Amino acid sequence: MKDNLDFGLKDKVAIVAGGGSNGDGIGNGRASSILLAEAGAKVLVVDLNKKSAQNTVDLIKNNGGDAFAIDADLTSSVQCKNVVNEVMKKWNRLDILDNNIGIASNTSVVNENERYWDKVMNINLKPMFLMSKYSIPAMINSGNGGVIINISSISATRPKGYTSYSASKGAVISLTKAMAVDHGTDGIRVNCILPGPVYTPMVYQDGMSEKLRKIRKDASLLNVEGDGFDIGKAVVYLSSNWAKYITGQTLVVDGGCSLSYKSRG
Ligand SMILES: NC(=O)c1ccc[n+]([C@@H]2O[C@H](COP(=O)([O-])OP(=O)(O)OC[C@H]3O[C@@H](n4cnc5c(N)ncnc54)[C@H](O)[C@@H]3O)[C@@H](O)[C@H]2O)c1
Repeated sequence: MKDNLDFGLKDKVAIVAGGGSNGDGIGNGRASSILLAEAGAKVLVVDLNKKSAQNTVDLIKNNGGDAFAIDADLTSSVQCKNVVNEVMKKWNRLDILDNNIGIASNTSVVNENERYWDKVMNINLKPMFLMSKYSIPAMINSGNGGVIINISSISATRPKGYTSYSASKGAVISLTKAMAVDHGTDGIRVNCILPGPVYTPMVYQDGMSEKLRKIRKDASLLNVEGDGFDIGKAVVYLSSNWAKYITGQTLVVDGGCSLSYKSRG
């Protein structure tokens, strides 16, 4: 049988949580927003940083896509609820949620500061919980199931140390599987992407030497540098009809880095 090459995303409505990026940089959320819109979805870009969310929307609109921006702190229950209300008010449906928010950490369990541990857990997990909590009923009301994609990291399964980040990203995998089990019968697919060391503002905004950039690139079995669009393409695929039989899974997007013995910096 000839398969339909259409992703099936035309007129679907997506929320990308953390869809801004620093300056002109292309983070995973910005790239995913752009590619979802190119595939035909209407995209609500939410970010703590209003200007960065608006920059993403401008890029989409300049390309003929449909998007709008909201600034919100998605660790807040009230603000998450408001974001979902806004998307329903504007487009009267919700099909896709890309939970992309995350911050890094950089030390061992002995040296980690307790306040920073709490901050990483709060930012890397709470928005996923809250945005899913309010999005799932909206998806069910929209009448055609839905898709949730949670962004974890290969640090969950192949840590470089970095205690709180690795622990939070491991929890993202368990949260994904739990949500997939609970909401499969609602027609909601929940999957998880584990990016490798991709070159995004999150990792270079505080300065990254060319030496470290090359180490990260060379950690790939392919000696290829990943970027936000590699993650965005995986988001589009998992959001699409092409992935209609896939739920509760983890998709590693790392150029084979997690199979490599090489350091990634
Ligand atoms: N870049 C990498 O190498 C890499 C590797 C593995 C996993 N990841 C994961 O990919 C995801 C995105 O990474 P990125 O590199 O695109 O980062 P990014 O910093 O460009 O994007 C994250 C966005 O989330 C926003 N944000 C932070 N806290 C928020 C809050 N409370 N409410 C609303 N928005 C908030 C930030 O303003 C930022 O725009 C993260 O979950 C990260 O852990 C990245």
